[in-house]
Amino acid sequence: MKGEFYIIGNSGEKTLSGKVVISGAKNDMVNAFAASLLMKGDLFVRNVPDVSDTEAMAALLSSLGGSVKRTATHEYKLNTGACAGSNLRGDIAKSIRASILYAGPLLARFGLVSFPFPGGCVIGKRPIDLFISGFMKMGARVSEKDGIFSIRAPRGGKIRGASIFFKRQSVTATETFMLAAVCADGTTVIKNAACEPEIAHLAEFLNSCGARIKGAGTSMIEIAGTGLLSAGKKIYDILPDRVEAGSFAILGALAARSLTIERCIPAHFEALIEALIEAGVDIKAGENTLVVRNSKRGRPFRAVDVKTHEYPGFATDLQAPMAVFLTQAEGEAIVFETIFEGRLGYVGELIRMGADILPLDQHRIQIKGGAELKGREVESPDLRAGLAYIIAAIVAKGDSVVHNAHYIDRGYERIEERLRAIGVKIERKP
Ligand code: EPZ
Repeated sequence: MKGEFYIIGNSGEKTLSGKVVISGAKNDMVNAFAASLLMKGDLFVRNVPDVSDTEAMAALLSSLGGSVKRTATHEYKLNTGACAGSNLRGDIAKSIRASILYAGPLLARFGLVSFPFPGGCVIGKRPIDLFISGFMKMGARVSEKDGIFSIRAPRGGKIRGASIFFKRQSVTATETFMLAAVCADGTTVIKNAACEPEIAHLAEFLNSCGARIKGAGTSMIEIAGTGLLSAGKKIYDILPDRVEAGSFAILGALAARSLTIERCIPAHFEALIEALIEAGVDIKAGENTLVVRNSKRGRPFRAVDVKTHEYPGFATDLQAPMAVFLTQAEGEAIVFETIFEGRLGYVGELIRMGADILPLDQHRIQIKGGAELKGREVESPDLRAGLAYIIAAIVAKGDSVVHNAHYIDRGYERIEERLRAIGVKIERKP
């Protein structure tokens, strides 16, 4: 499914209503696929989002010799018993940053792995130095030739438990080394680990299969090497996507009379909810639902400053949709993107749509709220900014075309159908 989205804006009217059910999180799906390499038997995975990054992770696993069966909509059975190779196929690995997650368990299991510099959304330099130094701490030798990295375990073929300090908190590096450490000799301690819910969830699942991981979800994780695990009848249930849920909350605030967001975990995007409440949005959060309402005589929203931060701070993945929100609030706000140095690239197109945004430097923009957005033809630069453009187009006056639907398809399932169901006038054209 490629193409572009045609959207007829509602000129700032709050006309949408109904409910939206949140999909499984792409960023948890990648963990389930990588975890299959640690399992002796089948691994059943449920609530898998039907997005193109799932296809990429599945294709990579198949190319390694794994068996990938789609047993039902949103369900997979994975078995890596027949995996023999540990060279990640360049064309696929280059298309998705999370491909590097496979490197940890492959190295631990086979004693070697090779992969190209991983690709993914272009939102900054996204180096892999933490991975390289971590593998070396576990005793591996690293070489690079023509853009392909080869990592080799020490003699005997087993990586060793190590103390690994990350100079920056990295989600994927934390997950990669947690996975690698399960099959390493001895104990690994990850310090300054990332604390995202997907990390704790992965550890919880691995522990339920016999791993010995302590502290996941905090900045210090200790993993005792145990060897391959057995999932038995346990099912990896992918977490609801907190970024999708947060983006719908923003859409609800900007364009809905009443929007119910179901099957989400509001505790996973509290920083956004707090910011929206501070801005004056009427939000009611339950354990697994969120309701956003706009009354007829509601006051305009107030500007709030936003600074992205590692979890549980304000998620960088929600920064672009939040910027769209702020174009419609009253007053001035600063958005400070602290995680990636290339994640404000979407701003130019929003300015063309009529937003009053002043780029201050590579990491900061100033938004003057209350601008009327006008429909335009825009090119999505990446997945999350792509959805932000869709939100902007819904709020705008007139028609918009959002090109590069393939970016949006990486992480949002059937987005146009789900938006249409709550009243958005959107169509996909090939
Ligand atoms: C994960 O990316 C997410 N992807 C991203 O979501 C998310 O934006 C990001 O975490 C931050 O929350 C997945 O989970 C699959 P990082 P990841 O390593 O792990 C620097 C989306 O749209 N760094 O936590 O790749 C890095 O450059 C995606 O779903 C190094 O310096 O991000 C960044 O500045 C986009 N050296 C910071 O750490 C390294 O070796 C945090 O990045 C690795 C990372």
